[in-house]
Amino acid sequence: MAFPESFLQELKMRNDITEIVSSYVSLKRRGRNMVGLCPFHGEKTPSFNIYTENGSFYCFGCGVGGDVISFIMKIENLDYVEAVKYLAQRAGMEVPENSYDDSMNRLRTRVFEANREAARFYNSALNSPIGAKGLEYFHGRALSDRTIRRFGLGFADDDWTSLCRHLHSKGFKDSEIVAANLGVKRRNGNGIYDRFTNRVMFPIIDLRGNVIAFGGRIMTNEKPKYLNTSDTPVFKKSANLFSLNNAKNSGSRTLILCEGYMDVISVNQAGFANAVATLGTALTSEQALLMKRYADEVIICYDADEAGQKATARAIPILRSAGLLIKVLTIPNGKDPDEFIRANGDDGPAAFKAVIEKSGNDVEYRLLKLKQNYNIETTEGKVAYLEAASKVVASISSPIERDVYSSKICNELGIDKNAFTQQIVNISKRQNRETAGKQLRKIQTDLSGRNDKINTEHYKKPRSSSAEEALVVYLINNPDSAEEISKSVNPEQFQNSLIRHYFKYFLTRIKSGLEPLTNVTADFTQDEASKLYEMLSQYIKAASTEEAMREYIKVINEESEKLSHEDIESMSADELKTYIDKIRKSKK
Ligand code: GTP
Ligand code: MN
Repeated sequence: MAFPESFLQELKMRNDITEIVSSYVSLKRRGRNMVGLCPFHGEKTPSFNIYTENGSFYCFGCGVGGDVISFIMKIENLDYVEAVKYLAQRAGMEVPENSYDDSMNRLRTRVFEANREAARFYNSALNSPIGAKGLEYFHGRALSDRTIRRFGLGFADDDWTSLCRHLHSKGFKDSEIVAANLGVKRRNGNGIYDRFTNRVMFPIIDLRGNVIAFGGRIMTNEKPKYLNTSDTPVFKKSANLFSLNNAKNSGSRTLILCEGYMDVISVNQAGFANAVATLGTALTSEQALLMKRYADEVIICYDADEAGQKATARAIPILRSAGLLIKVLTIPNGKDPDEFIRANGDDGPAAFKAVIEKSGNDVEYRLLKLKQNYNIETTEGKVAYLEAASKVVASISSPIERDVYSSKICNELGIDKNAFTQQIVNISKRQNRETAGKQLRKIQTDLSGRNDKINTEHYKKPRSSSAEEALVVYLINNPDSAEEISKSVNPEQFQNSLIRHYFKYFLTRIKSGLEPLTNVTADFTQDEASKLYEMLSQYIKAASTEEAMREYIKVINEESEKLSHEDIESMSADELKTYIDKIRKSKK
């Protein structure tokens, strides 16, 4: 069952898409539409369009489209029902009771509840005699009781079933505990046991205060050192950050990106609430875009070891393409932030602050790292370093910045700046040509539809598909034409099965007196909906006249008469002759 149509219609009316989107994206008017920088992929020129007339959005850069509900789903990381509830609350509307009986949604709610109960359980264990070992561990790592409370830290004992038993006593079923990844099924099929044992526990909390997952650290040198919740219905490791809930409220537009739980917590205790960490995986572009929503600048603060430096090099382009400014902090003496703060005792916070203030931007960092690879005392080393450095400088988009670094490098090496500048101009030109070529090729593949993952049939039959797409758009924009259209075309004549699916869907809705687009987000997958909104944004002008409509119908009729190669091959001579005669007649 779904939400009542009338409710959804009112919901959309009361949540104006332009108003909603503009609280996340700064929009400019362009003709009848609004445009801005897409919040779902990093870009420098705006290709994110808002169409006020049908309450939709579409990004020509990344191909995502939808209505106000799917916008909220994506940007707030909510499921469909949560997004509807969110918008209802915003507009002061009551959500009709029991109108959405979705088992996945019930499970998600139960998983949130089980996680919350588990966090309470682990935390009270930490503060009881059973957890003395854990508390001692945290104190040994210089965490104050205040910090332990602030992060809701906990302790998982080594009983192997205590959490499962506790959750059973609170009414949770095995299936719910397993779905939350708090318990694991026994191999022999006899019940479940605790996922986390004999570890200190770090709850991971999302931006709305839900406990979504845990990390657990063993208190010795055994392996694995950390155990994290696997992906669950409420947790996707690659799309969340530890402590973003605290960082969001820190009042700063800079984030300190650390490698691990303990670093974030130490940095917090040292007075910086704006620290976050990925959850034991390499940084993803999803996480970078999430950061971009709360920050303008990220200070990468990874370990000083080789792995940390490699991770830094990988993170830089990801953060950069999300549009973030980047600084890189180099911690002295090969330590991680937590060790550094502790090693400085009472001066830890001040010492860390000093390192932060000294952190250079990513160009400085890249040049510094590069220089370490060459022996610039020798002439060959110097030449090789200059070659490599000129590539780094050429990649900077601002000419002023380019000039600053050129001067710096030339001064350092005592060489003539003109030659170096010329070298950079040449590289930039080559790079520009290469990107221009790449962009052109991309536009060509996009236009040919070869790259279209969802509408794959368009490329095989471009003429019929284009007419079918245009007719669907016309139908949506002109519901009164449904009668006439269905008299002249039959859905079975559609060659493209995706477009046929849209056609049937909208025809049925319109004939039942429903507004065409109200329920698209619930009735289609995200990809199908994006494709639909792409069509709506592309054909909006072309599809607007009755004359055009008749033309589309004519093409669909013609194309459906044509037989495929296979059909023709399997025909007898007589059948073929009849078919050719028929075509000749229709051409006259
Ligand atoms: P401490 O030793 O407690 O200070 O942790 P650390 O943060 O210094 O550890 P490290 O630099 O080794 O790891 C950084 C992050 O990687 C951790 O916070 C974890 O999220 C993750 N990690 C480390 N070891 C493991 C492991 O054995 N398994 C998994 N899944 N993740 C790990
Ligand atoms: Mn550490």
